[in-house]
Amino acid sequence: MISLHKKLWIPGPTEVKDDVLEQQSNKLFGHRSNDFTLLYNSVLDQLREFFKTEQHITVITASGTLFMDISGRNLIRPGKKALCLVNGSFSDRMYKTLVNCGVEAEKVDIEWGKAPKPEHIKEKLDQSEFDVVTVCQNETSTGVKVDLKAFGDLLKNYPETLLVVDAVSSLGGDLILPDEMGTDLIFASTQKCFALPPGLAVGIVSQKALDRTKEVPNRGSYTDLNAIFAYFEKKRQTPSTPNISLLFAFDYKLKQMLKEGAKNISARLTELRDYTHKWALDHGFGLFAEEGYSSVTVSTIANKLEKDVGALNKALGEKGFVIANGYGKLKNQTFRIGHMGDHTLDDLKELLAAIEEIWEL
Ligand SMILES: Cc1ncc(COP(=O)(O)O)c(C=O)c1O
Repeated sequence: MISLHKKLWIPGPTEVKDDVLEQQSNKLFGHRSNDFTLLYNSVLDQLREFFKTEQHITVITASGTLFMDISGRNLIRPGKKALCLVNGSFSDRMYKTLVNCGVEAEKVDIEWGKAPKPEHIKEKLDQSEFDVVTVCQNETSTGVKVDLKAFGDLLKNYPETLLVVDAVSSLGGDLILPDEMGTDLIFASTQKCFALPPGLAVGIVSQKALDRTKEVPNRGSYTDLNAIFAYFEKKRQTPSTPNISLLFAFDYKLKQMLKEGAKNISARLTELRDYTHKWALDHGFGLFAEEGYSSVTVSTIANKLEKDVGALNKALGEKGFVIANGYGKLKNQTFRIGHMGDHTLDDLKELLAAIEEIWEL
């Protein structure tokens, strides 16, 4: 039996408000109707306004990982290579996905907890040609963010190389402006900073990336980025049947996000991050992420007191909360608090008070 609801302080899926959930119960219409065109384009227009972008935008019925496959099948020409910055589990998933798509990919390993920086790839870019560089803007496994603009600026010197960015757990939370930062494909899932249920993925695509797709054969069908935008150009709809119910919720949620404003959302989440960090240090824990590169949406706390994270979560569950243990090899060495979406400082104080009580801090 599914247990009592626990407020989600995990780094996705995050807590979804009742009014947003309720939007999914709107009566359906056909995805080839004018009503659908209006709904879908309202979502895209709001995304364009939120991210202040002139680039192409699509919303696909899938989770964010689909965009890793899309990257592998659309952006790397035959005989060309990808360069993947890997500093955690999700950036590694991107590398592996490209390899699974049959792409030749070179991996630059960076210690978990540290941030990828332009200096990690500059020499490689000078020595060899790469069709794409991949980077994870917000490594959810470690709580490390990257300075995207620094990568965008670097790649201005390599016009054949596209910047492909996994921002699954930060887009819509951290302040990310694709045009200013110079990204060519940046993608996210709805269950993170958009505070919606899982099931939709957002991709923001430069003209350069879209042009590149024409030079890449075997793009598949669901993963054919060129076909997605060609269909949109003609019909202003999606090539296959989308999750209309979630799009109702997305349209509604974006109105709330625009009202709060991208800068204010990012400032609110930064305050939660800073409060969480201070709390952790004041109680004798450590911070896992390299200084200056801490994620705005997920705090990874070094478990210096060697507390039992599994037992904590069990006890927290009885109080109606859940946090995340460390990811993979970081289990028990770290624990993570996801503070994305609609969470507020008052909510966070409630959670931290519950942890203090359970661990007798
Ligand atoms: C940084 C990052 N990339 C990719 C993914 C995978 O996203 P999805 O589960 O929506 O496919 C996640 C999920 O947690 C993530 O945090």
